Amino acid sequence: MATLTVKPARKLMGRVEVPGDKSMSHRAVLFAAMAEGKSRIRHFLYGGDCEASLKAIQAIGVQVERPRQDEIIVHGRGPHAWREPEDVIDCVNSGTTMRLLVGLLGAQPFTSVLTGSAQLRRRPMARVTVPLRRMGALVLGREDGKYAPLALRGGNLQGISYELPVASAQVKSALILAGLFAQGETEVLEPGPARDHTERMLISMGADIHTRDGTIRVNPLTHPLSPLDMVVPGDFSSAAFLIVAALLVEQGDVWIQGVGVNPTRTGLLDVLSAMGARVELENVRESGGEPVADIHVRSSVLQATEVRGHTVVRMIDEFPIFAVAATQAEGTTIVRDASELRVKETDRISAVVQELRRLGANIEALPDGFVVHGPSSLRGARVWSHGDHRLAMALSIAGLIAEGETVVEGAECIGDSFPSFVRLLHTLRQE
Ligand code: S3P
Repeated sequence: MATLTVKPARKLMGRVEVPGDKSMSHRAVLFAAMAEGKSRIRHFLYGGDCEASLKAIQAIGVQVERPRQDEIIVHGRGPHAWREPEDVIDCVNSGTTMRLLVGLLGAQPFTSVLTGSAQLRRRPMARVTVPLRRMGALVLGREDGKYAPLALRGGNLQGISYELPVASAQVKSALILAGLFAQGETEVLEPGPARDHTERMLISMGADIHTRDGTIRVNPLTHPLSPLDMVVPGDFSSAAFLIVAALLVEQGDVWIQGVGVNPTRTGLLDVLSAMGARVELENVRESGGEPVADIHVRSSVLQATEVRGHTVVRMIDEFPIFAVAATQAEGTTIVRDASELRVKETDRISAVVQELRRLGANIEALPDGFVVHGPSSLRGARVWSHGDHRLAMALSIAGLIAEGETVVEGAECIGDSFPSFVRLLHTLRQE
């Protein structure tokens, strides 16, 4: 198990670029496999999670090339050319790979078996297997389809109207993908603004999908999708670690260039701004149907706040690093309506509370969130990632403002989403 030793930093300065967005990288390769023709995906996130999606499309007979480290070419021949995978598909730690594949492969007239790491096999799958069965797919799995491994067979699906029980982009995407192969229209009703990269990307490829006021209507594919030629924007969820680091150190002045700022992803910016953070979006532009900007952050004095409701969905992956920011804010910060955090890579409420307490934070768990009393002076200690990349990085950033040395155990998982994290922090660190 890799450990990462972090020493305090007083000054972070400079300009950096973060790797490509994880959600978009997954979608780009999975959707390119449905297109007819050659797709070129640049600034692809080549990390543990997205590699699982790449291997999955290879397993169904799609050819892939990697001419450069962050460039992928997918030779799509349309879904009619897919073949039954010869072996079990290993989604490793990637919930996005597994849940999107349930929609995509659960609609095909062949059998696929999906599995993953022990961590992924503990994550809830009924949210995707239940609606897929309602569309007519045959789904077998542990505890009647609640957990992977899952065996799927489709071929004759019917469109349904389905109200999502949770605001989840993975579930929404699984249904949209299955809807492309079903008979008749599929309607998905969202309870909150989950990330909409699937809708944007598929529409740009020519799919017949309409979105309005939280309702998505999907019509079956009648013609092949057009191939992609895209540059994946920088991952806002990776930038979030550098944003909070620059805010919290004594002297922070950092630019993060080319970051995706889709409003379904940037809840953290709204919350931090309301807390007094000096964060600005500059040079806002569009790339591949998504808004992109350069983010300028300077060290700031933060006031406590309350986060609940739809904002939670718009910053669902940012709570480990948000908790670190809250330890330095003046007053009591409260997070509610965030029980989804309990079924992420780990139970992020318990894990964040447990590990930040080791560093001296005054933080308590709630059933659906947490409460932080700040500001508190953090002290370096030995902490554990719980195998969760976002927790490992949040703890490393806490280490930058703690007194003494912080040792993060189980840091290898950082490669799941942000392989250049340590290198970029070194680039920014001036003292
Ligand atoms: C993701 C959706 C979110 C997020 C995950 C990536 C996606 O999960 O937490 O990291 O790419 O669709 P949920 O859909 O379960 O909220």
